[in-house]
Amino acid sequence: MMKRILITGGAEAIQSKMKFKKKILCIGAGYVGGPSMAMIAYKCPDYRVTVVDVNPDRIDAWNSAQLPVYEPGLDKIVKKTRGKNLFFTKDIENQIKENDIIFVSVNTPIKTYGAGADMAADLQYWEKTARQILKHSRSSKIVIEKSTLPVKTALAMGKILASAKGKIKFEILSNPEFMAEGTAISDLENPDRVLIGSYETKSGLKARAELIEIYARWIPPEKIITSNIWSSELSKLVANAFLAQRVSSINSISALCEKTDADISEVARAVGMDNRIGDKFLNAGIGFGGSCFKKDMLNLVYLCSYYGLQEVAAYWKSVVNINEYQQERFIANILDRMFGTLAGKKICILGFAFKANTSDTRESPAIYISQKLLAEQAQVIISDPKALKNAAMDLSGIKGNVKYIEDPYRAAAGCHALVILTDWDLYQKLDFQKIYSAMVKPAFLFDGRNIIDHKKCFAIGFNVYPIGKPALSHFKN
Ligand code: UDX
Ligand code: ADP
Repeated sequence: MMKRILITGGAEAIQSKMKFKKKILCIGAGYVGGPSMAMIAYKCPDYRVTVVDVNPDRIDAWNSAQLPVYEPGLDKIVKKTRGKNLFFTKDIENQIKENDIIFVSVNTPIKTYGAGADMAADLQYWEKTARQILKHSRSSKIVIEKSTLPVKTALAMGKILASAKGKIKFEILSNPEFMAEGTAISDLENPDRVLIGSYETKSGLKARAELIEIYARWIPPEKIITSNIWSSELSKLVANAFLAQRVSSINSISALCEKTDADISEVARAVGMDNRIGDKFLNAGIGFGGSCFKKDMLNLVYLCSYYGLQEVAAYWKSVVNINEYQQERFIANILDRMFGTLAGKKICILGFAFKANTSDTRESPAIYISQKLLAEQAQVIISDPKALKNAAMDLSGIKGNVKYIEDPYRAAAGCHALVILTDWDLYQKLDFQKIYSAMVKPAFLFDGRNIIDHKKCFAIGFNVYPIGKPALSHFKN
């Protein structure tokens, strides 16, 4: 189906001649670049914000009625700003020439080759972007790292950009984005903090002040904090590492709960009520996914090993190990409870996104779990309200019998087991009696997110297996 392109080149050209107080460019129109620039445009109607990307389909999608990322509230602010002071375009070269403030939010996946493979960040996209900026710039610019990057990337960027000819100077800032997917718009509108790292030179401080001016339009001054550039780069990795560590900590205890009949929700509640610990990020489940946690953890591990801090590297690596262990445990439990064989059995996966309220499936535990179920020769039916297109891409090329059905009732009909992998609200509201009636008996329910009423489902007839809680089974030992 053809997407309707709403913005024409003409409108863009007219707008570019209009007077705007600041002209801002973002290179990279992904999950970070798109929403964060939409928020700046929304809060600063007198600034012109342009977003470019090497992927022309991405730009077309940003200009269409079907945005390339699903994010609650994003449509509304894009509709209000697009074509007025927010533009998505493919013309990278001219936009670099025209704008003086350039955010960079290109992807930084884990390296899959050469030195540091499976650990270090792949900085090729960053380096290409730096070279593009260098090649096309005709005036001095502020270049802002927005993607999460290994510490000292700014230094490397600076070295590339320092080879500029004549009077052109580039000032590099680090401004890591802390928003989480699914809540990006409220996180951007009301962040816990905005962090700006700069060099502490006269020109560095001037560039920093320029960026502060943008955020100060809607963020209270006490929430805009500054630091040196390396502290800023490291803070982003460490914030994600601490969050991931909490998830692995509670997941490790969920394994102990299953051995001892303790209940992980009761333990998390009691522990989280200590206000030194706090109650957030204590939901046990199938492990963390998403494009950031694993990548940032591995970056941190690589950085520590590089500096010879083997004990520190091993400490943070164990957070990733527990995440993998949690997924293995979950799969082993399914196999064990279903009498040691899944061959030919139909398994309905409810939820493929790495968390609720996003279409993003990057590093989603559902990818690995589906692959393992397919390897056991199960027939897998995947349901998700927003992520089926990505799920189909993730599993393309994987051998096995897999179907994609959005409607959870149709997806579950005729299945032997339900496996909940994403914490979508809608799964709590399902009519489990209706689902049970249409399933093969005995019916199994594996709740990888502990989000549904287990006792109620047990009473309906399901054999229920939560995470870190006693199983509710109708089988006699
Ligand atoms: C994370 C950081 O939260 C954000 O600050 C940063 O900018 C990007 O990385 P994101 O990956 O979008 O954001 O989602 P987040 O809410 O942190 O969840 C990450 C993963 O942890 C998800 O798979 C989620 O399901 C899982 N999680 C989270 C749990 O399993 N239990 C919890 O209690 C919380
Ligand atoms: P994130 O979650 O960090 O935003 P995404 O993968 O969603 O990551 O988005 C990064 C975007 O950056 C992609 O759309 C990709 O096409 C784009 N990109 C990568 N390299 C370049 C480049 N040199 N110039 C412009 N865009 C780029």
